[in-house]
Amino acid sequence: RSILAKELPDAQVIVVSNREPYIHNLKDDGIELVVPASGLVSALEPITRACAGTWIAYGGGSADRLVVDDKDRLAVPPDKPAYTLRRVWLTEEEQQGYYLGFANEGLWPLCHIAFTRPIFRLSDWETYQAVNRKFADTVVAEARNERPIVLVQDYHFALLPRMIRERLPDAIIITFWHIPWPNSEVFSICPWREQILEGLLGSSIVGFHTQFHCNNFIESVDRFLESRIEREDAAISYGGQTSLVHPYPISIEWPPSRLENAPTIGECRKRIREKFGLSGDIKLCVGVERLDYTKGILDRFQAFEELLEGHPEWIGKVTFLQIAAPSRGTLPAYQQLHEECMSKAEALNLRYGREGYVPVVMVAEHHSQDQVYEIYRAADVCMVTSLHDGMNLVAKEFVAARDDEQGVLLLSMFAGASKELLEALIVNPYDAAMMADALLQALTMAPSEQGQRMKSMRGVVRDNNVYRWAGSMLLDAARLRKRNDIDRAVG
Ligand code: F6P
Repeated sequence: RSILAKELPDAQVIVVSNREPYIHNLKDDGIELVVPASGLVSALEPITRACAGTWIAYGGGSADRLVVDDKDRLAVPPDKPAYTLRRVWLTEEEQQGYYLGFANEGLWPLCHIAFTRPIFRLSDWETYQAVNRKFADTVVAEARNERPIVLVQDYHFALLPRMIRERLPDAIIITFWHIPWPNSEVFSICPWREQILEGLLGSSIVGFHTQFHCNNFIESVDRFLESRIEREDAAISYGGQTSLVHPYPISIEWPPSRLENAPTIGECRKRIREKFGLSGDIKLCVGVERLDYTKGILDRFQAFEELLEGHPEWIGKVTFLQIAAPSRGTLPAYQQLHEECMSKAEALNLRYGREGYVPVVMVAEHHSQDQVYEIYRAADVCMVTSLHDGMNLVAKEFVAARDDEQGVLLLSMFAGASKELLEALIVNPYDAAMMADALLQALTMAPSEQGQRMKSMRGVVRDNNVYRWAGSMLLDAARLRKRNDIDRAVG
């Protein structure tokens, strides 16, 4: 907020994402409020609150239309309103073509190395264009003047920056791509690669989590567009617009507000073990994420199996609790993963389970942030073993939840977070034997070593928190605006 006040006074902040921060669903006994399982939401929510901005998102909850204050707008958070949530309503066909189709069957597998073939359909692409236009109309309608700061989030909106730029030429548009950017060879698969790049280059700043993904993006532009690239400044000029391409590693709020009312570690350990019917002294490994094929859930189960197979002394002494929030569940790839995870968990339980001992508890249900924090605080080990991930905020949230400075994090070398959380046990999720060894190391790690590692990781998350993430983007944007204003004044 202080950066905004000092560097960009009077600027209105507009956040655009597909997923809304508060979803209202119709239940038998009334309306249920859900905060979605989304790293994007956990990161952007405290920022939008601090800026008292406007958040534009798809109103996807079955009761969202019933919960509006005025003209599709709602003051949120519901208990302590701090900013405006502006819902955009999409038809089922629009959701199918833009979100499930182009974004999640096309761009999602294209950008992640998870060996799932991207599907590109012309009809999905047309819907994706139309929905991006719909959001552009909403941004323009919400802008109070010609110079708002628009924070465009993620791969659902690759075309939006240029559409906004055409109608609000003086806006600061900061686009953040929350997932990896592939190398130019892989990117060339997309039939509309030039349009995607042109769209993104309507931004003042295009941000990625890592320098590596910035480099891949710049290489893609170099290969497919006639543009001017100044590599030293990481600046690309195209179609009369200069865009900076910089890494901004996303993070979480610090201090974590969830900890304010969290039960003690002892209470969490007891409650969670009771809740899932586990014995009081069992060691607990946890995995928490959306049920997604990029997260490496099956590979993790494989590693757990190798641990029990290679070290039978652990049978009866350790349980794996996997929380997997369903999303995109109508897509075949997600349905198949769901079935495979359930049957792998069942097979492990049949093989190693016994009276009073369940090796794997797989819960494919949404959990609230408070429940998830309790699970982090109850765990001995947290496994974040994504096959590929832009950043992965679960890793940072686990660290934030452990104010006792205990617990071990196993972290995939293919998650952006592994570039920051160096004291985690870094693993290759494709190497089950290596993961099983790391799991054993975690389960037998002395409390003093756990303390040293956790303390150091907590320092990193505290220093590189989400306010710093947003602050550095806003500072870069302010410098850019000043430079443009001077250029214009000089002629
Ligand atoms: O990882 C990309 C991302 O957009 C995250 O930012 C977010 O947590 C998640 O995907 C949301 O998935 P969905 O909204 O499709 O359930």
